Amino acid sequence: MPDSSALRQSLEALRHQLNGLAELDAAGVEALEVRLLGRKQGVLTELLRQLPGLPPEDKRSIGAEANRLKLECEAAFQARREALKAAADAAAARGIDRTMPGRARWVGGVHPVTRVMEEIVSIFHGLGFARATGPEAETEWYNFGALNFPPDHPAMDMHDTLYLDIPERRTGEDRRRNRTSGVAEPAERREPSDRRFLDQGRWLMRTHTSPVQIRVMQGEPPPIRVVIPGWVYRKDPFDASHAPVFAQVEGLAVDEGISFVDLKATLSHFAREFFGSATAVRFRPSFFPFTEPSAEMDVGCGVCGGRGCPACKGTGWMEILGAGMVHPNVLVNCGLDPERYTGFAFGMGPQRIALNRYGIPDIRLLYEGDMRFLEQFTR
Ligand code: DAH
Repeated sequence: MPDSSALRQSLEALRHQLNGLAELDAAGVEALEVRLLGRKQGVLTELLRQLPGLPPEDKRSIGAEANRLKLECEAAFQARREALKAAADAAAARGIDRTMPGRARWVGGVHPVTRVMEEIVSIFHGLGFARATGPEAETEWYNFGALNFPPDHPAMDMHDTLYLDIPERRTGEDRRRNRTSGVAEPAERREPSDRRFLDQGRWLMRTHTSPVQIRVMQGEPPPIRVVIPGWVYRKDPFDASHAPVFAQVEGLAVDEGISFVDLKATLSHFAREFFGSATAVRFRPSFFPFTEPSAEMDVGCGVCGGRGCPACKGTGWMEILGAGMVHPNVLVNCGLDPERYTGFAFGMGPQRIALNRYGIPDIRLLYEGDMRFLEQFTR
């Protein structure tokens, strides 16, 4: 004889199964319907089959309950089917085909230029350099004047620099700010950089990350060790090796007793960390208005191993960065005593480094966002 109380419990459990109905799609509804009400093996069908064996006093009440549940099930299945149909009709009216397979998700990745920049920053981080950033819209003073460019320097030509058409009033505010808080009075016996920049300073898009050196020196006393990743702007044509917006990573170390030896050791260490411990390094004399002496650092060409190839134009070397000892005028412009403090600075182009490292033939590929290109860098 069937157990009455077990039967009651089974009916209750069955009713619970209807709760999940709203989550089911058409196939799910059908499967559940077969499982509960199927003519041969439906759970409820089985229970109903056991009714005749119950004691008479239970037969009536459990039978009534079971039949009520059966009707409830049928109504619920019907309602869910109708809801699904209504949703499908509405989607179809909006032109959505719900039988289409879902769209696969893209796996994100770090852009190769970002990756190179972060790697550079993290190597210097390991040497005690903190990250610093600064504004992309600058004044001529920060971008050129404070960095000891003479006022007639060709880099300031309208052909190279993107000047901003900013109302005179704001330019005036910035000039006042420079004068009162930013720029210290020059130390005696030193010719400061041309002060006309302060009075005629126009706004521009920074042409390099070097102005952030000035802001850092104005903002904190030595010892200073910073790396400055950022984007810079020049009126360059957009071709295989030039872009009007490109990345730089700048570096600056200022303290008592810093010498060219520190510059060479730090940058050689960086090159070996970044390109591999066997990397050859050489320094060549160069010129920048804001460093004296100035140098450029080359590393042995990674493509040909130094034998000479088209990538290194047959020289076996690749230029990686510009560097030098911070010019005394620059220290003075930031209110630092050049008799007490010395420093070195450097600047490099992470995109050129990325092109080289990954064998990318055209810088424009770094800007286009073409997934076929970018997908090669997702890990
Ligand atoms: N600002 C230079 C440029 O854009 C790069 C540079 C060279 C930065 C030498 C420096 C440096 O800090 O010391 O070409």
